Amino acid sequence: MPHLRRSFLRWLIRDVVPFDIPAEDGSPYLRRWVVTKLGVRFFVHHYLKNDPEPWLHDHPWWAVGIPIIGSYLEERLVRLCPVHGRVTKKRYIGTLRPNFIRTNVFHKIAAVNSGTWTLFFHGKRTGAFGFLETELKGDRWETRYHQPKDFVLEYSRNLMETDDG
Ligand SMILES: [Fe+2]
Repeated sequence: MPHLRRSFLRWLIRDVVPFDIPAEDGSPYLRRWVVTKLGVRFFVHHYLKNDPEPWLHDHPWWAVGIPIIGSYLEERLVRLCPVHGRVTKKRYIGTLRPNFIRTNVFHKIAAVNSGTWTLFFHGKRTGAFGFLETELKGDRWETRYHQPKDFVLEYSRNLMETDDG
């Protein structure tokens, strides 16, 4: 069965030029193909390593990711607490299990099996994209929503390539 899914992925990305999304050290952590099939635009993602940021992030649109090959462990925010900082839960997203991500969800890929491939669909842009930074100040955790300038620019470029609006 995996060979069928590999053939399907090969068919999806045929004739599409990918681009790499770099980690902070400049090395690629995600390879992305922007694919349009039957009038539907979506991403094919090949994870090369974990989300490079220590922070959880949100998305400007609802999204659904489906591992076609491989799987990953997602970390999601449950709540913010001044005493304990960010309280999260981990969810195992197995092969072919859709992972629905609403705009108000903060998450990250905590661990990914090497060679994982996903399909990633998203809706219209309705919000922002940024990181939730938590820092212990004295005996209290403080939180800041942070949008790094170069990251926003990079993401805007991706959005322009992929958004209808
Ligand atoms: Fe994400």
